Amino acid sequence: MAATSGKLRPPFRLLLLLLAAAVARSVDGVELTLLTGAREKGAVCLDGSPPGYHLQRGFGSGEHSWFIHLQGGAWCNTIEDCSKRKMSAYGSSKFMRAVEFNGILSNDQQLNSDFYNWNRVFIRYCDGASFSGDGEAQDQDGSTLHFRGLRIWEAVINELMGKGLATAKQAILSGCSAGGLAALLHCNDFYARFSKEVSAKCLPDAGFFLDIASFCSSEDLSGERHMWSVFNGTVHLQNVTQVLSKDCLAKKDPTECFFPAELVKSITAPTLILNSAYDSWQIQNALAPDGSFPGQSWSSCKTDVRNCSSTQIQVFNGFRNKFVDDIEVVKDKKDWGLFIDSCFTHCQTPFDISWNSQASPVLGNKTVAEAIGDWYFERSYEVKEIDCEYPCNSTCSSQLP
Ligand SMILES: *[C@@H]1O[C@H](CO)[C@@H](O)[C@H](O)[C@H]1NC(C)=O
Ligand SMILES: *[C@@H]1O[C@H](CO)[C@@H](O)[C@H](O)[C@H]1NC(C)=O
Ligand SMILES: *[C@@H]1O[C@H](CO)[C@@H](O)[C@H](O)[C@H]1NC(C)=O
Ligand SMILES: *[C@@H]1O[C@H](CO)[C@@H](O)[C@H](O)[C@H]1NC(C)=O
Ligand SMILES: *[C@@H]1O[C@H](CO)[C@@H](O)[C@H](O)[C@H]1NC(C)=O
Repeated sequence: MAATSGKLRPPFRLLLLLLAAAVARSVDGVELTLLTGAREKGAVCLDGSPPGYHLQRGFGSGEHSWFIHLQGGAWCNTIEDCSKRKMSAYGSSKFMRAVEFNGILSNDQQLNSDFYNWNRVFIRYCDGASFSGDGEAQDQDGSTLHFRGLRIWEAVINELMGKGLATAKQAILSGCSAGGLAALLHCNDFYARFSKEVSAKCLPDAGFFLDIASFCSSEDLSGERHMWSVFNGTVHLQNVTQVLSKDCLAKKDPTECFFPAELVKSITAPTLILNSAYDSWQIQNALAPDGSFPGQSWSSCKTDVRNCSSTQIQVFNGFRNKFVDDIEVVKDKKDWGLFIDSCFTHCQTPFDISWNSQASPVLGNKTVAEAIGDWYFERSYEVKEIDCEYPCNSTCSSQLP
């Protein structure tokens, strides 16, 4: 082959090189598709560019099954923050590239036996408010900042409906981190799009954010409700109202209604909450955010749990207890599932190692992939697993993301 191509005249050699590059690219990543008619629909990223998604088509028995994953990436809660964000792929499609599909998005049958041949979609996050804002503001430089997460959600799902989602027999709405929160926010809307015969379910991954103060019981953490203030800024700046439960809004502050503990009360679709009760992002950014403590002891413990003192572990256990209290309401919900492990990790479906490997957390004898497959396909009577307090279980790999 090499010898033959060596004899080819230059134009053909170039063609071969281009073909090889195209093959390499299709192995490396799934191409970006930009939403059609984005500007006319007002469904745009922070900078006004069209939003996008990556779709890998299903085949065989998975042809009429759809897995939708909403990308995460925190929030922007001030003009300044959103202004910075629009210079990145989290605020503009100008910076978006092909992505690799791993874990639950993978088309490898051995790794992902339940979903490998489904239609799999990764929707890019470029609004900064969990696909839920609807408004605009003036940027510092005089241009417009577009807060159109809600329109992006609607327009992208509608486009996918036209590409086959409308005739799905099985469908899952998922997402991780801020995308996991988005899956909770849009779960009812997603579910309502299908008839009773369709098995439509929601799978928020690492989207269960707690309204917790950075630890007041411990002298050296400041006691601020960090998550609450990020959400308050986001909800007000980006005009997040439409997606919140009317019942909640009648009784409570909109910011409180943006928290999963409230959201789950009004969700009607079967939903499995996948989360670590020691969510590493929340521990690092909400429980012990930088600047909330003096000295080195917390920085060292935050980055490596093996360096925590027993007092610090107690603080983490306080976070876990609040977590377990907040999900209590889910325990009695029929068709719902829980997979709450005790690993210091954040997002477990989109990585091979946590999704399905020797190092995957195991609860009730099941890896994350097995538990979710059993819950979705109802192969088990129930999947509601909450792991014991750290460090009683040894299945947590230090290699987890
Ligand atoms: C806020 O969002 C609602 C619901 O999407 C919308 O009707 C309203 O016009 C928005 N307000 C502003 C100021 O954009
Ligand atoms: C929540 O955000 C609004 C709008 O930015 C602000 O007016 C209000 O003071 C905030 N609430 C708290 C308690 O910080
Ligand atoms: C954890 O402790 C070990 C041993 O004291 C030290 O070498 C390491 O740098 C610490 N890790 C962090 C992240 O501080
Ligand atoms: C702890 O790990 C084992 C596997 O080593 C697993 O079977 C068990 O379910 C886990 N703990 C709990 C509380 O489920
Ligand atoms: C877990 O699996 C092992 C081996 O596959 C089996 O021996 C054990 O009984 C199982 N435990 C539970 C709680 O299902």
